[in-house]
Amino acid sequence: MPHDIALAGLDLPETAVLGSAEATGVPLPPAIADARPIRRAHYVAGRLCARRALARLGIDHMPSRRDDATADWPEGYAGSISHTAGYAVAVAARRAAYASLGIDVEQPLSAALEADLAPLVLTPAERDRFARHDVVHLVTLAFSIKEAVFKALWPLTRVRFEPEDVELIELGAQGAVTVRLVRSLDRRWTAGACLPGLWRRDVARCLCLAWVARETWMMRSDAAR
Ligand SMILES: CC(C)(COP(=O)(O)OP(=O)(O)OC[C@H]1O[C@@H](n2cnc3c(N)ncnc32)[C@H](O)[C@@H]1OP(=O)(O)O)[C@@H](O)C(=O)NCCC(=O)NCCS
Repeated sequence: MPHDIALAGLDLPETAVLGSAEATGVPLPPAIADARPIRRAHYVAGRLCARRALARLGIDHMPSRRDDATADWPEGYAGSISHTAGYAVAVAARRAAYASLGIDVEQPLSAALEADLAPLVLTPAERDRFARHDVVHLVTLAFSIKEAVFKALWPLTRVRFEPEDVELIELGAQGAVTVRLVRSLDRRWTAGACLPGLWRRDVARCLCLAWVARETWMMRSDAAR
């Protein structure tokens, strides 16, 4: 994990009791207030993680929810939230160093489900590239890193894309990941652009992080002029 990205996570035993906004002081936007208890609990847990991650950067703030469903990070900060059964997590960083962050957490899929979903999640090139690597939970990992990349790029592009539009090109040592765009999203984010990331996996979950360094963002903005 880059030292200047703050991460905070919450396990379900803690989040299970977070059903009501009154109990936690987390304001619920209308779309969440009307949702099922588990969704409200996940929202609250994500917001508590976001506040903790920001606190590690020295700022006291709880992001609200924007109209496009993203979290409203404070001026000068970027961040991302994810939740799955049993766990919520958030990352935050100063925009002086990062233009955007994306985090995703998934429960590992069964081998049978991975086999069914492989054609939807992995491109033919990815299947060839990793065929001999025998990566456990490759489909879960690829889906998760693509979701993390989507979350990092959405605030910068507002362009939706699908799993076949990004490719995992490298799974390095220490969980380093490189992902490449297969198609152009806009003038800055053209086909071939690469993003770095990280992944961590244990028996319970797969966690992926992608980021756009401010330097990269400036370079791409200059090149698009
Ligand atoms: C928006 C999306 C990324 C959310 O992912 P998810 O796995 O369903 O849910 P997660 O728990 O990981 O993340 C949810 C959080 O992401 C954040 N989020 C929502 N929309 C977002 C967006 N467009 N960009 C970045 N972050 C977003 C929110 O903070 C949300 O939590 P909250 O509603 O409690 O505040 C997903 O639903 C989606 O639309 N993906 C794009 C299409 C796709 O699947 N492409 C494949 C990968 S390329």
